[in-house]
Amino acid sequence: MKKYIIAIDGPAASGKSTTAKLLAKKLEYVYIDTGAMYRACALRSLWDEIDLQNTGQLEKMLSDISIEIKYSAAGNQIILDGKKVTHRIRKADITKLSSEIAVIGAVRKKMVELQRKMGEKGGIIMDGRDIGTIVFPKADFKFFMVASVKTRALRRWKEAKEKGEELNLENIEKELIWRDNNDSSRKIAPLKKAEDAIEIDTSDLTINQQVKTIYQIILERTCRSDIS
Ligand code: CDP
Repeated sequence: MKKYIIAIDGPAASGKSTTAKLLAKKLEYVYIDTGAMYRACALRSLWDEIDLQNTGQLEKMLSDISIEIKYSAAGNQIILDGKKVTHRIRKADITKLSSEIAVIGAVRKKMVELQRKMGEKGGIIMDGRDIGTIVFPKADFKFFMVASVKTRALRRWKEAKEKGEELNLENIEKELIWRDNNDSSRKIAPLKKAEDAIEIDTSDLTINQQVKTIYQIILERTCRSDIS
């Protein structure tokens, strides 16, 4: 039975990872969060006190970086050079740095190489910014999720609140707009919808509706027994 490659791209907080996670569970697929990989890279550059303009330092870091995604029912664990960094990489300093480091060609080359290796056998849902355009341009399914900036900011604010963090909604909105611009305007692999991707606006959808919408599309284009 064919194991599909499902690509989900879109801007920050558009619903990609929540949808990808739940869909992966439903289909018994592996979920790969490529944003976490850029975040891990950013954290390592911080550990090594790397000057992002210094190509030599960057190349050295990329030559021995180890990023593992460990799958568990409670959610994926991100391991950087043998250390658990799942929570650390979600902090604001890394969020900004990940977008800054993601414009660098050498970094993207290495991440894309790792991502292709992780996904080559199929049976995966990968989310990011360039999965349908660059990493797997021949993915079996491509989705591009969008939502208004207000909705996205509110989602991030609520997520933080649930973790006991009080954030300023206006600052979150500013950060999202900055990151949208930085991710969309870079020269290499900018955030953009692949021509053959299906756009889903999640602004007025609940999480269940998001998952159901994508699941239905997959079922319609294939047959249930074909999904393994
Ligand atoms: O979770 P959130 O949507 O806030 O961001 P993320 O998916 O964790 O990605 C963090 C950053 O990594 C993004 O702002 C992008 O700059 C970069 N990224 C990328 O360039 N390409 C990807 N495939 C995934 C993430």
